[in-house]
Amino acid sequence: MLDRNGRSIEYVRLSITDRCNLRCRYCMPESGVTSLRHEELLTFEEIVRIVKQLPPLGIHAVRLTGGEPMVRRDCMELIRMLHDLEGIDRIAMTTNGILLKGRVAEAKEAGLQAVNISLDTLDKEQYAYITRRGRLEEVMETIEEAIEAGLKVELNVVPLKGINEDCLCEVARLAKKAPVAVRFIELMPIGCARTLEPVPLDQVRSRMNQAFGELREDTATHGLGPATYVKPPGFIGSLGFIGAITHEFCGSCNRIRITPEGKLKLCLNHQPAMDLREMLRHGCEDSELREKIREAIWNKPLHHGFLEKLPDREERRMNQIGG
Ligand code: GTP
Ligand code: 5AD
Ligand code: SF4
Repeated sequence: MLDRNGRSIEYVRLSITDRCNLRCRYCMPESGVTSLRHEELLTFEEIVRIVKQLPPLGIHAVRLTGGEPMVRRDCMELIRMLHDLEGIDRIAMTTNGILLKGRVAEAKEAGLQAVNISLDTLDKEQYAYITRRGRLEEVMETIEEAIEAGLKVELNVVPLKGINEDCLCEVARLAKKAPVAVRFIELMPIGCARTLEPVPLDQVRSRMNQAFGELREDTATHGLGPATYVKPPGFIGSLGFIGAITHEFCGSCNRIRITPEGKLKLCLNHQPAMDLREMLRHGCEDSELREKIREAIWNKPLHHGFLEKLPDREERRMNQIGG
C-alpha cells in the first residue's frame, strides 16, 4: 500500500527478541541490560497472526532481526510458520551469524532465502573488541556455510573511527572472490552509538575507489533495503553503501517494523505508533487489526530526524528495534 507521502510499503522487519549473545559497542552496553520477560514477547502464534494481515496491505517480505534472532529458541519453527503463510514470498534474516553456525541448511530448508551477517572487521582482536564476546572464526564459518548453501549473503560493516578503519578494504576484498555484497553502514546516533564516532561514507567510498578502481553502479537487484551498490572491476560480488545520515533515503523508505513486545514502528527513530500485542490480547478481530495497521502506515513519518530534536524520538537501543 502507499502511505500519505506516496511511498510503497512492502516489507516488514520483525525484531523477535531484544536479547543477544554479543554486546557490539554500537548497539548494547557491556552489562546491566534488562531484557523483556518471556510473557512480554509476542508468541510465534501472535507474530503469525500479525504477519497474516500484511499481504492484503501489499507487504509480502519479512526480515527477522533482534537482538539476535537465533537466540529465540525454535527460530527455525517460526521461519517455517512464516514460510507457510500465503502471500509471504521472501524471508530474510539479519544476524551476527554465531548461533547460525551448523544450522544454515536447516534454515534454508525451513524457508530462509537471504541472510545479512554483521562482520565489522577481519582482525580477530578487533572483532573481539567490537563485539565484546564474539569469535571471528565462528562467524566466518557461518558465512562460508551460507555461501555454500546458495543463500543470498550480505555482510554488514559499520565503520568506526579509530576502531576498524584500517580493516575496511580487507573486508571489502571478500566480495572479490565470493558472491557476497559487503555493505558499509554509516553509524546512526541511536542508543550506545551516540558515544562512538562514525566514518563518513563518502570517505569509505573513496578509499574503496583508491583500493579497487572504478566503482561502477551495480544495477542487479539486491535486497529491498536502502543500500546502493557498486561493482569494482574483477569482483564477483559487490560493495554496498547505507548512508542514513549523509545520504538520507527516507523518501524511498518501504518498510515497517514490529518490536519484540509487539509495538508497530513506522520509522527507526520515531516511537512506536501502536501496540499490536494489546489489541491481540484483548481479542480484536483480524479485520480490525488490519485496518488499524493500515491507518498507522498511512501516517508513516517522512524523515528519521536523527539530527533534529524530535518530540517522539526513539529512546530504545538498536537491539530493541532490530536495526
Ligand atoms: P536488504 O537490503 O533487503 O538486504 O536489507 P537491509 O539492508 O534493510 O537490512 P539490514 O538488516 O542488513 O540493515 C542494514 C542496515 O540498514 C542496519 O544498520 C539498519 O539499521 C539499516 N536500516 C535498515 N532499514 C533502515 C531504515 O528504514 N532506516 C534507516 N535509517 N536505517 C535502516
Ligand atoms: N548504526 C548503524 N548500524 C547499526 N547496527 C547496529 N547498530 C547500529 C548503529 N547504531 C547494524 C548492525 C547490524 C544491523 C542490523 O544494524 O551492524 O548489521
Ligand atoms: Fe547483537 Fe547485532 Fe547488537 Fe551486535 S549489533 S549486540 S550482534 S544485536
